[in-house]
Amino acid sequence: MSALPAGSRAPAIAQAVSYARDPLGFLAARQRRYGDIFSVNFPFFGRVVYVARPDLVKEVFTGPPAVFHAGEANATVLEPALGPNSVLTLDDEPHMRQRKLLLPPFHGERVERYGELIAETTRKEMESWPIGEPFALRPHTQRITLAVIMRAVFGVHDEARLDRFGRLIDDFAKRVGVITSFPMLRRNLGPGSPWPRFQRSRAALDEFIYEEIRLRRAAPGYEERDDVLSLLLSARDEEGEAMSDQELRDELVTVLGAGHETTATGLAWAIERLVRNPGVLVKLRDSLASGEEDYLAATVKETLRARPVIVDVARKLKAPATVGGYDLPAGQFVLPAIAALHYREDLFPEPERFRPERFLDGKADNYAWIPFGGGVRRCIGAAFAEYEMRLILREFMEGAELRPVDPEPERVRVRNITLAPAKGTMVVAAA
Ligand code: HEM
Repeated sequence: MSALPAGSRAPAIAQAVSYARDPLGFLAARQRRYGDIFSVNFPFFGRVVYVARPDLVKEVFTGPPAVFHAGEANATVLEPALGPNSVLTLDDEPHMRQRKLLLPPFHGERVERYGELIAETTRKEMESWPIGEPFALRPHTQRITLAVIMRAVFGVHDEARLDRFGRLIDDFAKRVGVITSFPMLRRNLGPGSPWPRFQRSRAALDEFIYEEIRLRRAAPGYEERDDVLSLLLSARDEEGEAMSDQELRDELVTVLGAGHETTATGLAWAIERLVRNPGVLVKLRDSLASGEEDYLAATVKETLRARPVIVDVARKLKAPATVGGYDLPAGQFVLPAIAALHYREDLFPEPERFRPERFLDGKADNYAWIPFGGGVRRCIGAAFAEYEMRLILREFMEGAELRPVDPEPERVRVRNITLAPAKGTMVVAAA
């Protein structure tokens, strides 16, 4: 078949508005209406194709990386922030080179060396929670994950420098949102307009990062340190080449950008779901009190199923390819619809229910549970993120008694490219 899969004929802008209002519901409803492969017309991107069945997702994730370009697809949104050398915006050989250099520090058990740092940072942040009055949890989870990533990735421990760094990142993150969401704003419309403001905040952040790279290179014995910047400075590719400063900058900003807002939002959702499901909350506390870890791990997985922080991942076809029996042309965007897949009744019975038990027996299927994407582009920080979420959740469970401000679930709101709880997870901590 050479026509594109079925989809709504509504104008692109109307589809974008429906998507922005409720991305979770939007994709699941399209899948129910048009089937497991469907198309959606968006402004700027044109008609894109979504797949929402494990065998189709597998076709996309295991398709030849030279044809299924993720870097090119990501770059349309992320390149102004991350740069041309980021593992997220590259494809083919250059992508694999960066990926191999970046993987070791985030691999499986290696992330456990950050355990004490994560627990300590969490306990310190919890001291600032108000008692007995409503507050939004998300800014707190974000402060924790940001502090962790600044220390774990950059190895910055000096409080004054951390403060300055944190402010630069905050400012940068604020400016990035509008630039990534509205590509048409990427030009100078006057000094106060979004693009020059974004460029100024990027220049300030870059200056700090290049200075950090210079200081670290000059520091005696950095080869012995275990933060990611030091590891990347010592890393060599297969030809024995080190990373250039520009490559280092792009990877560091990538890890910062990809690594703290996502995890903070995942944690905010975990608490948003837990306080509205007291049975699950009690079970989690009891399991932790008896020294049991499996229910905690399952709770994290169920959170990322029911509230995937990222709703879809994109590939742009470099050459024509067949997906689900459709012959798609070069240039076509194809996206596994994470949100639709996670709400399939046949894969996750009673998908609306928050039920960690579904992850207790057996591993999550590679092509059904995909909050971290897949194939050669699967999230490099997945082990780190799940580990960090488990540790922080445990500290929250052991150190505080939380209840929701409103019994109604919080709505989903698009925040940069992530899905966040609309009110930032409003809770009250008991005295
Ligand atoms: C709950 C937290 C997180 C979620 C939901 C998440 C999700 C994702 C997703 C969906 C992708 C795209 C995968 C694809 O295209 O198939 C991705 C890629 C990536 N993530 Fe994460 N991520 C999280 C945390 C992290 C952390 C903590 C780091 C770093 C420490 C990180 C670093 C990256 C990098 C470098 C890539 C690019 C991989 C590549 O293109 O080869 N992420 N992530």
